[in-house]
Amino acid sequence: MTSSNRKKVIMDMDPGVDDALAIIMAIHSPELEVLAITTVAGNVGIDHCVKNTLRVLALLDLENPPIVARGAEKALKAKPHDAASVHGEDGLGALGDAYYPELNWDLVTDEPAADLMARLVAEHPGEVTVMADGPITNVAEAIRRHPKEMAKAKAIQAMTGAIHVPGNIPPVGAAEFDAYCDPDALAEVLDFTVPVFMVPLDVTHAVPLQRDIAQYEFGRRTDRISKFVLDSSVHYMDFYRDDQGHDGCYLHDPLNVAIAAFPTIARTEAMRIHVDTSDSLTRGLTLPYHHPRLKKAEPNCHVALKVDTERTMRLFWERVRGD
Ligand code: BDR
Ligand code: CA
Repeated sequence: MTSSNRKKVIMDMDPGVDDALAIIMAIHSPELEVLAITTVAGNVGIDHCVKNTLRVLALLDLENPPIVARGAEKALKAKPHDAASVHGEDGLGALGDAYYPELNWDLVTDEPAADLMARLVAEHPGEVTVMADGPITNVAEAIRRHPKEMAKAKAIQAMTGAIHVPGNIPPVGAAEFDAYCDPDALAEVLDFTVPVFMVPLDVTHAVPLQRDIAQYEFGRRTDRISKFVLDSSVHYMDFYRDDQGHDGCYLHDPLNVAIAAFPTIARTEAMRIHVDTSDSLTRGLTLPYHHPRLKKAEPNCHVALKVDTERTMRLFWERVRGD
């Protein structure tokens, strides 16, 4: 594929184990051109997120790695929340600095994530898809600061929300993590003029990664990406095993990449989604307009509600291994 017919994406994320898998998958996907990786506090604090992005890029050892930007260290308004207990204290299973090759700190630009995002979008009008894989604070911030530039985005495609299934935030499971971390940002993004595609838990839970299968697929390989996938995901998979009885994890952010590369992998429905921005048990709830009279309310996003599990998994193995 030539550079001109690759889909231009900006990955906005909070690496995180599944974010790391998403970076590997996106970089190994010739359908996508990753213009930049912008980071946001979420799974872990912003310093870890920047460092983890560089760690994954160092393992990938690319000739032309994407630029990396530091983004929001806190939500627009909501109280801080992280998932270090899920992803490990550094966000990548706490393997330690010595595990990684030397990091290229020169990749980190001084330009703040929101400004870089808007600038790149405006430089390629109608061509850039902003893929959000974490709390959507940077995107909301970019829209606040540079609405004219951000209006030139092709789409915003966010792994976020839980529509017809429970969320993953205890104790009641109303919200999905990214929506919970910054519900105000999500509500602002849904109000914006650019088409928004939502990839919620409804579909990411349809792409589970079983530990034994991962061990079989990656364990017989000797390359460092395969080793990293297994090593970094031990803590993450232990969490799902102990918390939910699922000995593995879910491919939340990798599914967002798969859909960006091959939109027909998912079936979407135009819907109007309300985000609960209250500071209550239902903070971050992504509620579809259910009432028969309101069901036809002006949609504010396209929600992926069905996914081709087999095709996604095939793509995951192939792209993460770099076959
Ligand atoms: C989302 O929350 C984060 O923990 C994951 O990286 C993913 O983006 C899933 O709810
Ligand atoms: Ca994430």
